[in-house]
Parts: sequence; structure tokens; C-alpha cells
Amino acid sequence: MSLIKVHDKQFTPYLSEASIQEKIKELAANINRDYAGKKPLFIAILNGSFMFASDLFKHLTIDAEICFIKLASYKGTKSSGQVITAIGLDTDIAGRDVIIVEDIIDTGKTLNEFLPQIHNQQPSSLKIAVLLHKPEATVMPVHIDYCCFAIPNKFVVGYGLDYDGLGRNLKEIYQLHEEKA
Ligand code: IMP
Ligand code: MG
Repeated sequence: MSLIKVHDKQFTPYLSEASIQEKIKELAANINRDYAGKKPLFIAILNGSFMFASDLFKHLTIDAEICFIKLASYKGTKSSGQVITAIGLDTDIAGRDVIIVEDIIDTGKTLNEFLPQIHNQQPSSLKIAVLLHKPEATVMPVHIDYCCFAIPNKFVVGYGLDYDGLGRNLKEIYQLHEEKA
């Protein structure tokens, strides 16, 4: 087992590059099927979803558009519970088939804050695509339409996800290593 260090913490390999890519291909195939003949607008939530959004988008064969917004709620390895819109939506979504792209649903607070803003702008449909979901950590449930992996309630880094700014560049996903006493 090859541990890696990010800041002061050690992480252990959890999801391989190949398994992530395989799941994303499957997810893209489902979207290609479900949106055949439509032209969905993807709204990817920065920073964490940039790699997932990019790889997912490459596997789309339908016409699709993408735009980005930036929301933040995390400090270190814990959610602060406060969601800040750092970059807002600059695209008209009224009457559009919208798909939100998020790296991970943890407590669910980020999407629960943000989704009403999207609903208010009256898209003709709204679905959620996530790379990871931590069901045990979710206190504000979100209806997830497309999900690559349900994972245990442990902090992860890599493939866009960070620990205090670092670790996003890893091609695999790593889990916080727990020291055995
Ligand atoms: P939520 O509002 O608690 O659902 O958290 C959502 C955001 O927190 C995600 O979009 C991530 O950016 C961040 N986050 C949640 N869990 C993790 C994790 O295990 N590692 C890194 N970032 C995380
Ligand atoms: Mg995020």
C-alpha cells in the first residue's frame, strides 16, 4: 500500500484512474441515451468538479453546452456549513434542460442552497450528476440522477478534490489514512 502525504495528512489509494474513467464513460452513455435529440446545458460547480466535468463532457455524443459557477463551503477536512457564491451564473437557463455537475455530495448543504436559485430561473428540466456521494454524511438529502460512486463517510482527495487547496492534480482518488492505535 503506497501512502501519499498532502499537507500534514496521509492518504491511501481508494479509486483507481481506470475505475473512475470506466464509471464516467457509463454515466456519459446514460446521458447520451436520456438526452438524445436534446441540447442540455451542463452547469459545473467549481472548483472540485473541473476534472469530472471535463472527462464527462469528452464522452458526450449529443449536442451539449457547458458553463461554470463557483460555490465554496469547505475549510480543511470539514464543511463550514456556509455556502458562498464566488462566481455566479452568467447564462440564461430558462426553458433549458439543465444538468448540474458536482464533484461530491457530502452533507448536501451546497446543493440545497443552490438548487432553489436554479429552479427560480425556470429550466424546463433539472438533473444532478455527481462523481461521488457520501450517503452516511448527507443531512440535507438531494435527489441524485447520475452518480459514479457511493462512498463511505471518509475524507477523500484527488481527481479535482482537494485538502486545503492541494491534491486536485492526482489522477486517482485517495482516502484519509486512519492510524491504528
Ligand atoms: P456538501 O455541501 O457538504 O454536500 O459539500 C459539498 C462540497 O464540499 C463538495 O462540492 C466538495 O467541494 C467539498 N467536499 C465534501 N466532501 C469532501 C471530501 O471528502 N474531500 C474534498 N472535498 C469535499
Ligand atoms: Mg464541490
